[in-house]
Amino acid sequence: MIEKKIKSILYKIKKLFFNVFLIKKSNNDTIFEKIYKKNYWGSAESISGPGSDLINTQNIRIELPKIISKYKIQKVIDVPCGDFNWMKLVVDQSDIDYLGCDIVEELINLNKKLYSSNKVNFSKLNLMKDQLPDSDLLICRALFYHLDFFSIKKILENFKRSNIKYVLLTNSPNLENFINKDIINGQFRDLDLFKAPLLFPSNYLYKFEDIRNSDTNIIEQEMILWKMDELLNNINL
Ligand SMILES: C[S@@+](CC[C@H](N)C(=O)[O-])C[C@H]1O[C@@H](n2cnc3c(N)ncnc32)[C@H](O)[C@@H]1O
Repeated sequence: MIEKKIKSILYKIKKLFFNVFLIKKSNNDTIFEKIYKKNYWGSAESISGPGSDLINTQNIRIELPKIISKYKIQKVIDVPCGDFNWMKLVVDQSDIDYLGCDIVEELINLNKKLYSSNKVNFSKLNLMKDQLPDSDLLICRALFYHLDFFSIKKILENFKRSNIKYVLLTNSPNLENFINKDIINGQFRDLDLFKAPLLFPSNYLYKFEDIRNSDTNIIEQEMILWKMDELLNNINL
């Protein structure tokens, strides 16, 4: 109990330090580089944070192959790919062309060194502005809840310029009386895609549980699959 309290206080101090010295003094392009270099998300297993540890990706590793098979997915683009910690297990057992992209160049170079093969590639890409290659499925896990509304809007506009059939996004589900707040890029808040100002349409194809809090038993994160054009045609950009 005391140990938990001390941990929570230390985390709050770290967060304050981060907000004042890293986020507020950074521009958009360098925030995630600093997060990467400081291992700010604090997982010993994955530089992309505890949500990317194997224990927290058990369900998505079961669900993704089902989606790949059901929707006859051959070409996947995964943005952001982070450190590929859990996704490597999915890719290993699927016969897909995989392209992992992230805004942090150092991370991409490391992924290239460790994991590139004839069917697995990595490339530096900013989802807000860089052209996305044609693909069957875009996986965008654990990103929007770290971004301000303006950046999310930029990403959706970029989706409009792409030729991608399906998109799989992270949502914070079933939050009663919840109001989406804006943040500075790099921070975190729960984000309900169906609530203002995003108001995503409910015409999705499929959703599944991603992360469940083991203390409260509440689902903290779910993944939702849309047909890209059906999502974008029903969003006000
Ligand atoms: C929490 S990690 C999630 C990684 C991965 N999707 C996973 O589930 O393990 C968030 C990642 O988003 C990347 N990122 C942030 N802004 C981005 C952008 N505009 N374009 C591409 N990647 C971005 C960060 O560098 C970081 O690696």
